[in-house]
Amino acid sequence: MPKILAISNQKGGVAKTTSCFSIAAGLAEIGQQVLMVDLDPQANLTTACGLDPDELEWTLMDVLVPDDTEPAPAIMQIIQPTKMAGLSILPADMRLASLERLMVSQDDYELSLKRELSLLNHYDSVVIDCPPSMGALTLMGLSAAQTALIPVQCEYFASRGLMQLLDIIEIVRSQTNPTLDYYIFASMYDQRNLISRQVLESLQEHFQEHIFDTVIRIDTRLRESVMVGEPIQMYAPRTRSAEEYRQLTQEIILHLQKEE
Ligand SMILES: Nc1ncnc2c1ncn2[C@@H]1O[C@H](COP(=O)(O)OP(=O)(O)OP(=O)(O)O)[C@@H](O)[C@H]1O
Ligand SMILES: [Mg+2]
Repeated sequence: MPKILAISNQKGGVAKTTSCFSIAAGLAEIGQQVLMVDLDPQANLTTACGLDPDELEWTLMDVLVPDDTEPAPAIMQIIQPTKMAGLSILPADMRLASLERLMVSQDDYELSLKRELSLLNHYDSVVIDCPPSMGALTLMGLSAAQTALIPVQCEYFASRGLMQLLDIIEIVRSQTNPTLDYYIFASMYDQRNLISRQVLESLQEHFQEHIFDTVIRIDTRLRESVMVGEPIQMYAPRTRSAEEYRQLTQEIILHLQKEE
């Protein structure tokens, strides 16, 4: 079974998609076979890989909610390669937004992604990009994962949102995934900003063994890399943010080994 990581935070624009792409690429860079799952109707991760969600014959939606009029594709048929060796993606499109309405009446719908992923035996790691909400899609992502990775922007209101997310993790543990673990890390960190430094310090104090030492600082190269459909490790392999994401990937691997 692959290690399954879900990048989650209900707050928008905190670098979930960027971190999913960069952590997955970090794992592929050291020789792993890695699958990314785009669980967001915005399909930003799909687009970041250079794919046009509207041009794809099938996406994750066709696996999770098969259309009665056509034979359902198998999960393997939907996976697309990326520009990086060892890194593939299960793409999304806008139709995922209607999943909640179509699925929540089904028993155990939260476990449907996990069931689909269990059919894959070819990957070392799966990294799921969750949407900025606490709805059905996020519950499916967290139910499938061994570990939730939570990027936080070190801003004044960050702690409050984090508490809400930890409540959701508690609910997922009690209902579908008792062993779900979580780690926080600072993304888009601005070290010149006093508030950011104070918030980071208080998060480190509060979360202790649940927060990674690596801090991802602001770097405009990360914005550029998704525009060319490449992870930062490919687009600008020697930049600071590529190095920071490599370091974060190493920390993640160490923590996952500790849990074995
Ligand atoms: N370390 C960074 N430095 C500078 N810009 C960054 C950094 N990380 C992410 N960004 C940029 O910030 C924006 C938001 O990032 P991203 O899309 O990864 O966030 P998100 O949490 O996935 O957003 P959403 O909640 O909408 O899914 C993007 O334009 C991205 O390129
Ligand atoms: Mg996103």
